[in-house]
Amino acid sequence: NQQEKQMLYQALELLTKFYHYVLCNSKYGQKGKEYLIRRGFSEETIEKFQIGYAVDSWEMATRFLQKRGLPLPIIEKAGIISKRNFDNKFFDRFRNRIIFPIWDRRGKTVAFGGRILTNEKPKYINTPESNIFHKGNILYGYHLARSAIKQKNQAVLLEGYVDVIKAHQAGVTNAVASMGTSLTEEQAGLLTRNAETIIICYDSDKAGIEASFRAAEMLKDSGRTIKIAKMPENLDPDDYISKLGGERFRNDVIGASQTLMAFKMDYLRTGRNLYDEGDQMRYIEDVLHEIAGLTKAVERDHYLRQLADEFSISLDALKQQQFQIYRQTK
Ligand code: UTP
Ligand code: MN
Ligand code: MN
Ligand code: MN
Ligand code: MN
Repeated sequence: NQQEKQMLYQALELLTKFYHYVLCNSKYGQKGKEYLIRRGFSEETIEKFQIGYAVDSWEMATRFLQKRGLPLPIIEKAGIISKRNFDNKFFDRFRNRIIFPIWDRRGKTVAFGGRILTNEKPKYINTPESNIFHKGNILYGYHLARSAIKQKNQAVLLEGYVDVIKAHQAGVTNAVASMGTSLTEEQAGLLTRNAETIIICYDSDKAGIEASFRAAEMLKDSGRTIKIAKMPENLDPDDYISKLGGERFRNDVIGASQTLMAFKMDYLRTGRNLYDEGDQMRYIEDVLHEIAGLTKAVERDHYLRQLADEFSISLDALKQQQFQIYRQTK
């Protein structure tokens, strides 16, 4: 079994190089290269992240690996091929897609994410779970970000492959991705291991914002400082960097990240007119609910004072109302 694992690693390593070679050095990869350049990937970035291209073929990857002496069962177990239903024939899983190698924390390729070049669905195809790939244990880009995470004592959590790659290109080299919006306990552990501060910067759509709250709840248990970075509506880090540049991403997004409570307060304001008495009361009530959920008394006191100041309400009145909420939620 140890031997089998070695062969899986070997197959994925060979294929990483193959896909990357096709992208960079062959006419078949030109379409992919043009796509990446159009999206603002630099040559250096394509090298650093070993980005590749899978051509529109049912068997090129399989044949390449077989020629290198790898048996079909290994190629199958590595998740590189899948079986066609109607005739039980194997075919390459990744066709006509940009290939993002996914590494374990030692930097060994354990899977691929393959992006289609058009708007067709599914946007990404990923290697299925295997003996060496458990998606929930992996943060995309971790082995490239680890030293920066330690050095800055801070980690930046993003959603997607492209977000991580563009963040690194913009100098945010402590960025990793959960590969989707649901952070796992294992990923949370990895994230908080070497950093005092975790900055969550998920896509600024509804799914991303709600997932930020869930991720923050999970990460809070570690006792680390959790911050949330805000972007204009419906942008993700890659969109933001393409539109507004890396410097603004570093300063106005990552640099301006807020504590979880400040972010929630902002979020509770959206769609409300705080000059309207009813809206204002509902806002205060919602914020009091959030404050009641804080575990540290010092923190509760801090935000109560802030609320009192902002709306010129006596601290006593707020405390009284909060006490009621506090009892309700216990
Ligand atoms: P997004 O839908 O936000 O894609 O998914 P993206 O990363 O912004 O990709 P681009 O910019 O359109 O190329 C975020 C992440 O969720 C996972 C991938 O890891 C993706 O990077 N995902 C998303 C999948 O695995 N499969 C999908 O079909 C979609
Ligand atoms: Mn190269
Ligand atoms: Mn998204
Ligand atoms: Mn996105
Ligand atoms: Mn995107």
